[in-house]
Amino acid sequence: MEITTHSTQETKEFANKIAKGISLGMIIALYGDLGSGKTTFTRFLVEALGEKGRVQSPTFVIARKYGHINHVDLYRLSTEQEVEDLGFKDMVEDKESITIVEWPDLAEKLLPKDTLRIYFEYIDESSRRIKL
Ligand SMILES: Nc1ncnc2c1ncn2[C@@H]1O[C@H](COP(=O)(O)OP(=O)(O)OP(=O)(O)O)[C@@H](O)[C@H]1O
Ligand SMILES: [Mg+2]
Repeated sequence: MEITTHSTQETKEFANKIAKGISLGMIIALYGDLGSGKTTFTRFLVEALGEKGRVQSPTFVIARKYGHINHVDLYRLSTEQEVEDLGFKDMVEDKESITIVEWPDLAEKLLPKDTLRIYFEYIDESSRRIKL
């Protein structure tokens, strides 16, 4: 499916819909350029799933935890080894948590087959195309 959201509010409504299909143990991989809306979507998804704490770009921390949700951003990593050192394998194998990963390319081999992949694209200042 594909949708174009014309505001962050519309992205929030989209995240609310996606949240209904999310269950423990799922891995969600978010693809797309800088500023395409991955973290914004994550923030709304974490809210919709009922976890507290404002989602921030994990830029310097790489991984953060909000309740049972792991939010990982691999942008600053450069090798698959670094992804492993982060404990990524344990995260994706943990059936009691949900893992959301931005810039998932380096983790591709560790992503399970049933990973929910969502693609973000910048259209203009307030619009984003989202495909899954
Ligand atoms: N329709 C929209 N949906 C989502 N975000 C939007 C939309 N319109 C404008 N924005 C803005 O676009 C920006 C998206 O930034 P965000 O940090 O979510 O991107 P990102 O994909 O996580 O980037 P990065 O790769 O740097 O982590 C935010 O400032 C947000 O307010
Ligand atoms: Mg981000």
